Amino acid sequence: MTLRVRRLEPGDDRSAFRCGNPDLDRFVAQYAGQNQFRHHLGTTYVAVEGYVIAGFATMTASEILPAAMPTKSKKRLPRHPLPVLRLARLAVDEQARGQGVGGALMLATFAVARQMADNLGCIGILVDAKPEAVAFYRRFGFEAVDIVAGLLGDRPQPLPMFIELAQF
Ligand SMILES: CC(C)(COP(=O)(O)OP(=O)(O)OC[C@H]1O[C@@H](n2cnc3c(N)ncnc32)[C@H](O)[C@@H]1OP(=O)(O)O)[C@@H](O)C(=O)NCCC(=O)NCCS
Repeated sequence: MTLRVRRLEPGDDRSAFRCGNPDLDRFVAQYAGQNQFRHHLGTTYVAVEGYVIAGFATMTASEILPAAMPTKSKKRLPRHPLPVLRLARLAVDEQARGQGVGGALMLATFAVARQMADNLGCIGILVDAKPEAVAFYRRFGFEAVDIVAGLLGDRPQPLPMFIELAQF
């Protein structure tokens, strides 16, 4: 069966999704829909095989200060906060790992960022990478940035990472 990435639809069954992280499973099952359809906080894209959700990526509009960007091009940019796409969550079902689903969601995220750039402005993609996913994002060209992510208690510290539009 072929893999397709599209926006989450209200009728999608999200209850069986299991990525090994209960917070991400709960998010897609309980909150992704209302965040998208009722509150318009962000949009979830799902990678589907038939009716089965193999993975999802949730995105929202955000901002970055040029000083936090890792690239030389920041010198050409104004010093106020600039528009970015924030990849808020990304997860692949445990049964679908290692088969290109995460990569397909990453390419879909690049495509949405390009549309955002055309439609309203977007200089790149920001993600708070979980420690175990840092190498995955580096593989796609993301670099660590200097943003203090806030107080997270004793949870593992995510690493803010960024990729500039010109690099994808
Ligand atoms: C990280 C995650 C999304 C990767 O999804 P996936 O579908 O297994 O990834 P893919 O099969 O598309 O892999 C794409 C490429 O990245 C590589 N890759 C996958 N996971 C990786 C990791 N954790 N570290 C480094 N490289 C990784 C693959 O080897 C592959 O490389 P190749 O094209 O040279 O073979 C998935 O493991 C996951 O959902 N993890 C749990 C939730 C999580 O950590 N989400 C990130 C939150 S910030």
